[in-house]
Amino acid sequence: MDLRQFEERKLDHIRYSLDEAHQAVGLSELDAVRLVHEALPDLDFDEVSLRTDCLGISLETPFYIAGMTAGHEQAFQMNRTLALACQERGWAMGVGSQRRDLERGGAVGLDSWTELRAQVPNLVLFANLGISQVIHASSQEILRVVDGLKAQALVIHLNGLQEVLQPEGTPHFRGSFRAIERIVSELGIPVVLKETGCGFSEATLRRLSGLQLGAIDLSGLGGTHWGRIEGARAASGSIQSQAAATFATWGESTVSSVRAAVCALPDSVEIWASGGVRSGLDAAKLLALGAHRVGFAKPALEAALAGEQALRTWMGAREFELKTALFCTGAATGQELRQTAVRRVGRLSAEGEDDHGN
Ligand SMILES: Cc1cc2nc3c(=O)[nH]c(=O)nc-3n(C[C@H](O)[C@H](O)[C@H](O)COP(=O)(O)O)c2cc1C
Repeated sequence: MDLRQFEERKLDHIRYSLDEAHQAVGLSELDAVRLVHEALPDLDFDEVSLRTDCLGISLETPFYIAGMTAGHEQAFQMNRTLALACQERGWAMGVGSQRRDLERGGAVGLDSWTELRAQVPNLVLFANLGISQVIHASSQEILRVVDGLKAQALVIHLNGLQEVLQPEGTPHFRGSFRAIERIVSELGIPVVLKETGCGFSEATLRRLSGLQLGAIDLSGLGGTHWGRIEGARAASGSIQSQAAATFATWGESTVSSVRAAVCALPDSVEIWASGGVRSGLDAAKLLALGAHRVGFAKPALEAALAGEQALRTWMGAREFELKTALFCTGAATGQELRQTAVRRVGRLSAEGEDDHGN
Protein backbone atom coordinates (compact mmCIF):
# COMPACT_ATOMS: atom_id res chain seq x y z
CA MET A 1 0.00 0.00 0.00
CA ASP A 2 1.25 3.47 -0.90
CA LEU A 3 0.69 5.28 2.44
CA ARG A 4 0.82 8.79 1.06
CA GLN A 5 -1.71 7.97 -1.64
CA PHE A 6 -3.87 6.25 1.00
CA GLU A 7 -3.92 9.30 3.31
CA GLU A 8 -4.58 11.70 0.44
CA ARG A 9 -7.47 9.53 -0.74
CA LYS A 10 -9.06 9.57 2.74
CA LEU A 11 -8.86 13.37 2.86
CA ASP A 12 -10.24 13.64 -0.70
CA HIS A 13 -13.19 11.49 0.36
CA ILE A 14 -14.04 13.81 3.23
CA ARG A 15 -13.73 16.89 1.06
CA TYR A 16 -15.72 15.52 -1.91
CA SER A 17 -18.45 14.00 0.26
CA LEU A 18 -19.30 17.46 1.62
CA ASP A 19 -20.03 18.75 -1.90
CA GLU A 20 -23.78 18.59 -2.61
CA ALA A 21 -23.05 17.52 -6.22
CA HIS A 22 -21.91 14.15 -4.86
CA GLN A 23 -25.12 13.52 -2.97
CA ALA A 24 -27.85 11.53 -4.75
CA VAL A 25 -30.44 14.01 -3.50
CA GLY A 26 -34.06 12.98 -4.07
CA LEU A 27 -33.23 9.36 -4.94
CA SER A 28 -33.75 7.76 -1.51
CA GLU A 29 -37.54 7.58 -2.21
CA LEU A 30 -38.10 8.83 1.34
CA ASP A 31 -40.14 11.77 0.04
CA ALA A 32 -42.67 9.30 -1.39
CA VAL A 33 -43.30 7.69 2.01
CA ARG A 34 -45.86 9.29 4.32
CA LEU A 35 -46.64 8.45 7.88
CA VAL A 36 -50.30 8.62 8.80
CA HIS A 37 -51.08 11.43 11.22
CA GLU A 38 -52.79 10.48 14.48
CA ALA A 39 -54.86 13.43 15.66
CA LEU A 40 -55.64 11.74 18.96
CA PRO A 41 -52.52 10.05 20.37
CA ASP A 42 -53.22 8.39 23.71
CA LEU A 43 -49.94 9.49 25.32
CA ASP A 44 -47.91 12.48 26.53
CA PHE A 45 -44.89 13.63 24.54
CA ASP A 46 -42.56 12.82 27.47
CA GLU A 47 -43.75 9.22 27.42
CA VAL A 48 -42.22 8.76 23.97
CA SER A 49 -39.07 6.66 24.30
CA LEU A 50 -36.39 6.10 21.69
CA ARG A 51 -34.76 3.25 23.61
CA THR A 52 -34.00 0.17 21.48
CA ASP A 53 -31.73 -2.85 21.43
CA CYS A 54 -28.70 -2.93 19.17
CA LEU A 55 -27.32 -6.46 18.70
CA GLY A 56 -28.67 -7.33 22.14
CA ILE A 57 -27.39 -4.16 23.86
CA SER A 58 -29.94 -1.63 25.10
CA LEU A 59 -29.31 1.90 23.80
CA GLU A 60 -31.11 5.21 24.38
CA THR A 61 -31.70 5.81 20.68
CA PRO A 62 -32.07 3.77 17.47
CA PHE A 63 -29.43 5.97 15.80
CA TYR A 64 -25.84 5.32 14.77
CA ILE A 65 -23.17 7.24 13.00
CA ALA A 66 -22.02 5.11 10.08
CA GLY A 67 -18.31 4.42 9.58
CA MET A 68 -16.43 7.18 7.82
CA THR A 69 -12.84 7.64 8.61
CA ALA A 70 -9.61 6.14 9.96
CA GLY A 71 -5.96 5.82 9.05
CA HIS A 72 -4.85 9.44 8.61
CA GLU A 73 -3.75 12.21 10.92
CA GLN A 74 -7.09 13.97 11.32
CA ALA A 75 -9.03 10.75 11.78
CA PHE A 76 -8.29 10.31 15.46
CA GLN A 77 -9.66 13.73 16.35
CA MET A 78 -12.75 13.28 14.15
CA ASN A 79 -13.53 9.85 15.57
CA ARG A 80 -12.97 11.16 19.09
CA THR A 81 -15.44 14.02 18.56
CA LEU A 82 -18.04 11.64 17.15
CA ALA A 83 -17.39 8.96 19.78
CA LEU A 84 -17.73 11.23 22.82
CA ALA A 85 -21.02 12.64 21.56
CA CYS A 86 -22.35 9.18 20.64
CA GLN A 87 -21.51 7.74 24.05
CA GLU A 88 -23.14 10.69 25.79
CA ARG A 89 -26.38 10.50 23.79
CA GLY A 90 -26.75 6.72 23.47
CA TRP A 91 -25.97 6.45 19.75
CA ALA A 92 -23.87 3.60 18.36
CA MET A 93 -20.94 4.40 16.09
CA GLY A 94 -18.82 2.80 13.40
CA VAL A 95 -15.28 3.81 12.53
CA GLY A 96 -14.06 4.05 8.93
CA SER A 97 -12.16 1.37 7.06
CA GLN A 98 -9.31 -0.10 9.12
CA ARG A 99 -7.58 -1.49 6.06
CA ARG A 100 -4.38 0.20 7.13
CA ASP A 101 -4.40 -1.59 10.51
CA LEU A 102 -5.01 -4.91 8.77
CA GLU A 103 -2.25 -4.49 6.23
CA ARG A 104 0.25 -3.33 8.83
CA GLY A 105 -0.51 -6.19 11.23
CA GLY A 106 -2.21 -4.18 13.97
CA ALA A 107 -3.43 -0.72 14.89
CA VAL A 108 -1.27 2.09 13.55
CA GLY A 109 -0.24 4.86 15.94
CA LEU A 110 -2.24 7.44 14.01
CA ASP A 111 -5.54 5.98 15.05
CA SER A 112 -4.58 4.88 18.53
CA TRP A 113 -7.72 2.88 19.13
CA THR A 114 -6.73 1.98 22.70
CA GLU A 115 -6.55 5.65 23.59
CA LEU A 116 -9.92 6.33 21.94
CA ARG A 117 -11.56 3.33 23.62
CA ALA A 118 -10.31 4.40 27.04
CA GLN A 119 -12.22 7.68 26.61
CA VAL A 120 -15.49 6.00 25.58
CA PRO A 121 -15.69 2.73 27.51
CA ASN A 122 -19.49 2.51 27.22
CA LEU A 123 -19.84 3.33 23.54
CA VAL A 124 -21.23 0.62 21.25
CA LEU A 125 -18.54 0.73 18.59
CA PHE A 126 -18.07 -1.13 15.30
CA ALA A 127 -14.84 -2.06 13.55
CA ASN A 128 -14.78 -1.73 9.76
CA LEU A 129 -13.06 -3.55 6.90
CA GLY A 130 -13.75 -3.78 3.17
CA ILE A 131 -14.72 -7.06 1.55
CA SER A 132 -11.73 -6.96 -0.83
CA GLN A 133 -9.44 -7.10 2.22
CA VAL A 134 -11.54 -9.57 4.22
CA ILE A 135 -11.38 -12.15 1.42
CA HIS A 136 -7.61 -12.48 1.91
CA ALA A 137 -7.39 -12.03 5.68
CA SER A 138 -7.37 -14.76 8.31
CA SER A 139 -9.76 -14.58 11.27
CA GLN A 140 -6.75 -13.99 13.55
CA GLU A 141 -5.69 -10.96 11.54
CA ILE A 142 -9.22 -9.59 11.59
CA LEU A 143 -9.57 -10.26 15.32
CA ARG A 144 -6.47 -8.17 15.98
CA VAL A 145 -8.18 -5.21 14.28
CA VAL A 146 -11.44 -5.78 16.16
CA ASP A 147 -9.72 -6.29 19.54
CA GLY A 148 -7.62 -3.13 19.19
CA LEU A 149 -10.88 -1.20 19.22
CA LYS A 150 -12.72 -3.49 21.66
CA ALA A 151 -15.49 -3.37 19.08
CA GLN A 152 -18.91 -4.90 19.70
CA ALA A 153 -19.23 -5.95 16.04
CA LEU A 154 -17.28 -6.10 12.80
CA VAL A 155 -18.76 -4.21 9.86
CA ILE A 156 -17.70 -5.51 6.45
CA HIS A 157 -18.35 -2.91 3.80
CA LEU A 158 -19.29 -3.59 0.18
CA ASN A 159 -18.43 -0.90 -2.36
CA GLY A 160 -18.30 -2.50 -5.80
CA LEU A 161 -19.11 0.65 -7.79
CA GLN A 162 -16.55 2.70 -5.87
CA GLU A 163 -13.77 0.14 -6.33
CA VAL A 164 -14.37 0.00 -10.10
CA LEU A 165 -14.39 3.76 -10.57
CA GLN A 166 -11.51 4.49 -8.20
CA PRO A 167 -8.35 4.75 -10.29
CA GLU A 168 -6.38 2.84 -7.60
CA GLY A 169 -9.39 0.67 -6.61
CA THR A 170 -9.47 -3.05 -5.88
CA PRO A 171 -12.63 -4.46 -7.50
CA HIS A 172 -11.76 -8.02 -6.49
CA PHE A 173 -14.87 -9.62 -5.01
CA ARG A 174 -14.39 -13.24 -6.13
CA GLY A 175 -14.86 -15.49 -3.11
CA SER A 176 -16.69 -12.80 -1.12
CA PHE A 177 -19.69 -14.93 -0.10
CA ARG A 178 -17.44 -17.73 1.17
CA ALA A 179 -15.26 -15.24 3.04
CA ILE A 180 -18.28 -13.74 4.82
CA GLU A 181 -19.51 -17.23 5.71
CA ARG A 182 -16.05 -18.10 7.12
CA ILE A 183 -15.69 -14.90 9.15
CA VAL A 184 -19.21 -15.21 10.58
CA SER A 185 -18.51 -18.73 11.80
CA GLU A 186 -15.00 -18.04 13.13
CA LEU A 187 -15.07 -14.52 14.59
CA GLY A 188 -17.17 -14.96 17.72
CA ILE A 189 -18.71 -11.45 17.61
CA PRO A 190 -21.58 -10.20 15.43
CA VAL A 191 -20.78 -9.46 11.79
CA VAL A 192 -22.64 -6.67 10.00
CA LEU A 193 -22.62 -6.49 6.22
CA LYS A 194 -22.87 -2.95 4.90
CA GLU A 195 -23.21 -1.23 1.54
CA THR A 196 -21.87 2.28 1.13
CA GLY A 197 -24.63 4.08 -0.76
CA CYS A 198 -25.82 1.68 -3.47
CA GLY A 199 -28.17 -0.45 -1.33
CA PHE A 200 -29.22 -4.09 -1.66
CA SER A 201 -31.67 -5.85 -3.97
CA GLU A 202 -34.06 -8.47 -2.66
CA ALA A 203 -32.20 -11.18 -4.61
CA THR A 204 -28.88 -10.36 -2.89
CA LEU A 205 -30.54 -10.22 0.52
CA ARG A 206 -32.11 -13.63 -0.07
CA ARG A 207 -28.65 -15.05 -0.83
CA LEU A 208 -27.40 -13.60 2.46
CA SER A 209 -30.41 -14.61 4.52
CA GLY A 210 -28.97 -18.00 5.50
CA LEU A 211 -25.79 -16.54 7.01
CA GLN A 212 -25.85 -15.85 10.74
CA LEU A 213 -25.27 -12.11 10.30
CA GLY A 214 -25.96 -9.76 13.22
CA ALA A 215 -27.33 -7.06 10.93
CA ILE A 216 -27.27 -5.71 7.39
CA ASP A 217 -26.67 -1.98 7.01
CA LEU A 218 -28.46 -1.33 3.74
CA SER A 219 -26.87 2.05 2.99
CA GLY A 220 -29.01 2.70 -0.04
CA LEU A 221 -29.06 5.23 -2.85
CA GLY A 222 -30.17 8.72 -1.83
CA GLY A 223 -27.21 10.28 -0.04
CA THR A 224 -23.44 10.16 -0.45
CA HIS A 225 -22.72 8.58 -3.84
CA TRP A 226 -19.30 6.98 -4.28
CA GLY A 227 -19.64 6.77 -8.04
CA ARG A 228 -19.88 10.56 -8.13
CA ILE A 229 -17.05 11.06 -5.63
CA GLU A 230 -14.61 8.76 -7.46
CA GLY A 231 -15.67 10.35 -10.75
CA ALA A 232 -14.69 13.75 -9.35
CA ARG A 233 -11.35 12.36 -8.11
CA ALA A 234 -10.51 10.70 -11.43
CA ALA A 235 -8.64 12.68 -14.07
CA SER A 236 -10.99 14.75 -16.15
CA GLY A 237 -11.90 12.99 -19.41
CA SER A 238 -10.62 9.64 -18.10
CA ILE A 239 -12.62 6.47 -18.63
CA GLN A 240 -13.51 6.48 -14.90
CA SER A 241 -14.80 10.04 -14.87
CA GLN A 242 -16.96 9.38 -17.95
CA ALA A 243 -18.35 6.18 -16.48
CA ALA A 244 -19.04 7.97 -13.18
CA ALA A 245 -21.38 10.37 -15.02
CA THR A 246 -23.16 7.38 -16.58
CA PHE A 247 -23.54 5.72 -13.17
CA ALA A 248 -24.46 8.87 -11.19
CA THR A 249 -27.86 7.48 -10.20
CA TRP A 250 -26.82 3.83 -9.82
CA GLY A 251 -28.08 1.85 -6.86
CA GLU A 252 -31.09 0.52 -4.97
CA SER A 253 -32.82 3.28 -3.03
CA THR A 254 -32.76 3.22 0.76
CA VAL A 255 -36.54 2.76 0.85
CA SER A 256 -36.60 -0.11 -1.66
CA SER A 257 -33.67 -1.76 0.17
CA VAL A 258 -35.62 -1.69 3.45
CA ARG A 259 -38.72 -3.09 1.78
CA ALA A 260 -36.62 -5.86 0.24
CA ALA A 261 -34.92 -6.63 3.57
CA VAL A 262 -38.26 -7.00 5.35
CA CYS A 263 -39.28 -9.62 2.76
CA ALA A 264 -35.95 -11.43 2.49
CA LEU A 265 -34.32 -11.53 5.92
CA PRO A 266 -35.14 -13.70 8.94
CA ASP A 267 -36.08 -11.92 12.20
CA SER A 268 -32.68 -12.78 13.66
CA VAL A 269 -30.92 -10.31 11.32
CA GLU A 270 -31.35 -6.65 12.30
CA ILE A 271 -32.16 -4.24 9.50
CA TRP A 272 -30.09 -1.06 9.68
CA ALA A 273 -31.06 1.71 7.29
CA SER A 274 -28.70 4.44 6.11
CA GLY A 275 -28.01 6.33 2.90
CA GLY A 276 -29.59 9.76 2.48
CA VAL A 277 -31.16 9.87 5.94
CA ARG A 278 -31.25 13.56 6.75
CA SER A 279 -33.86 14.05 9.48
CA GLY A 280 -35.57 12.33 12.38
CA LEU A 281 -38.69 12.15 10.20
CA ASP A 282 -36.72 10.21 7.55
CA ALA A 283 -35.65 7.90 10.38
CA ALA A 284 -39.25 7.44 11.54
CA LYS A 285 -40.31 6.49 8.00
CA LEU A 286 -37.57 3.86 7.83
CA LEU A 287 -38.51 2.44 11.24
CA ALA A 288 -42.13 2.28 10.13
CA LEU A 289 -41.07 0.43 6.99
CA GLY A 290 -39.28 -2.17 9.10
CA ALA A 291 -35.77 -0.93 9.96
CA HIS A 292 -34.48 -1.54 13.50
CA ARG A 293 -31.79 1.13 13.47
CA VAL A 294 -31.08 4.21 11.37
CA GLY A 295 -27.70 5.68 10.45
CA PHE A 296 -26.24 8.96 9.30
CA ALA A 297 -22.86 9.57 7.70
CA LYS A 298 -22.31 12.83 5.78
CA PRO A 299 -24.56 15.08 7.89
CA ALA A 300 -22.87 13.84 11.08
CA LEU A 301 -19.45 14.54 9.57
CA GLU A 302 -20.55 18.03 8.58
CA ALA A 303 -21.85 18.71 12.10
CA ALA A 304 -18.68 17.32 13.71
CA LEU A 305 -16.51 19.52 11.53
CA ALA A 306 -18.47 22.51 12.85
CA GLY A 307 -17.43 21.57 16.40
CA GLU A 308 -18.35 19.42 19.40
CA GLN A 309 -21.28 21.60 20.42
CA ALA A 310 -22.63 21.84 16.87
CA LEU A 311 -22.57 18.04 16.66
CA ARG A 312 -24.51 17.64 19.92
CA THR A 313 -27.08 20.23 18.79
CA TRP A 314 -27.47 18.41 15.48
CA MET A 315 -27.94 15.04 17.24
CA GLY A 316 -30.48 16.51 19.67
CA ALA A 317 -32.46 17.94 16.74
CA ARG A 318 -32.65 14.52 15.02
CA GLU A 319 -33.81 12.88 18.27
CA PHE A 320 -36.47 15.57 18.76
CA GLU A 321 -37.75 15.09 15.20
CA LEU A 322 -37.99 11.35 15.65
CA LYS A 323 -39.86 11.75 18.94
CA THR A 324 -42.23 14.21 17.25
CA ALA A 325 -42.92 11.72 14.47
CA LEU A 326 -43.62 9.00 17.05
CA PHE A 327 -45.98 11.23 19.04
CA CYS A 328 -47.83 12.39 15.91
CA THR A 329 -48.37 8.80 14.78
CA GLY A 330 -49.53 7.78 18.25
CA ALA A 331 -46.56 5.46 18.87
CA ALA A 332 -44.78 5.48 22.23
CA THR A 333 -41.70 3.68 20.89
CA GLY A 334 -39.95 2.94 17.62
CA GLN A 335 -40.91 -0.68 18.12
CA GLU A 336 -44.58 0.29 18.19
CA LEU A 337 -44.21 2.34 15.03
CA ARG A 338 -42.52 -0.62 13.37
CA GLN A 339 -45.21 -3.09 14.39
CA THR A 340 -47.95 -0.94 12.94
CA ALA A 341 -46.07 0.02 9.77
CA VAL A 342 -48.64 -1.38 7.38
CA ARG A 343 -51.37 0.86 8.67
CA ARG A 344 -49.18 3.91 8.97
CA VAL A 345 -47.25 3.94 5.75
CA GLY A 346 -48.64 5.14 2.48
CA ARG A 347 -46.82 5.78 -0.79
CA LEU A 348 -47.48 8.67 -3.06
CA SER A 349 -47.95 7.46 -6.61
CA ALA A 350 -46.59 9.50 -9.50
CA GLU A 351 -49.99 11.23 -9.72
CA GLY A 352 -49.75 12.21 -6.06
CA GLU A 353 -52.50 9.86 -4.89
CA ASP A 354 -52.09 8.11 -1.58
CA ASP A 355 -51.87 4.35 -1.83
CA HIS A 356 -52.35 3.42 1.84
CA GLY A 357 -51.64 0.01 3.24
CA ASN A 358 -48.70 -0.54 0.94
C1 LIG B 1 -16.20 10.81 4.20
C2 LIG B 1 -16.84 9.45 4.19
C3 LIG B 1 -16.04 8.33 4.33
C4 LIG B 1 -16.62 7.05 4.34
N1 LIG B 1 -15.84 5.96 4.57
C5 LIG B 1 -16.42 4.75 4.78
C6 LIG B 1 -15.65 3.63 5.21
O1 LIG B 1 -14.45 3.73 5.39
N2 LIG B 1 -16.32 2.46 5.44
C7 LIG B 1 -17.67 2.34 5.24
O2 LIG B 1 -18.24 1.27 5.50
N3 LIG B 1 -18.40 3.37 4.80
C8 LIG B 1 -17.82 4.56 4.58
N4 LIG B 1 -18.59 5.64 4.19
C9 LIG B 1 -20.00 5.41 3.80
C10 LIG B 1 -21.00 5.73 4.89
O3 LIG B 1 -20.81 4.91 6.01
C11 LIG B 1 -22.45 5.60 4.39
O4 LIG B 1 -22.70 4.26 4.06
C12 LIG B 1 -22.74 6.46 3.16
O5 LIG B 1 -22.01 7.66 3.21
C13 LIG B 1 -24.22 6.79 3.02
O6 LIG B 1 -24.67 7.57 4.12
P1 LIG B 1 -24.95 9.15 4.00
O7 LIG B 1 -25.81 9.36 2.79
O8 LIG B 1 -25.62 9.53 5.28
O9 LIG B 1 -23.61 9.83 3.84
C14 LIG B 1 -18.03 6.91 4.18
C15 LIG B 1 -18.82 8.07 4.05
C16 LIG B 1 -18.25 9.32 4.06
C17 LIG B 1 -19.14 10.52 3.92
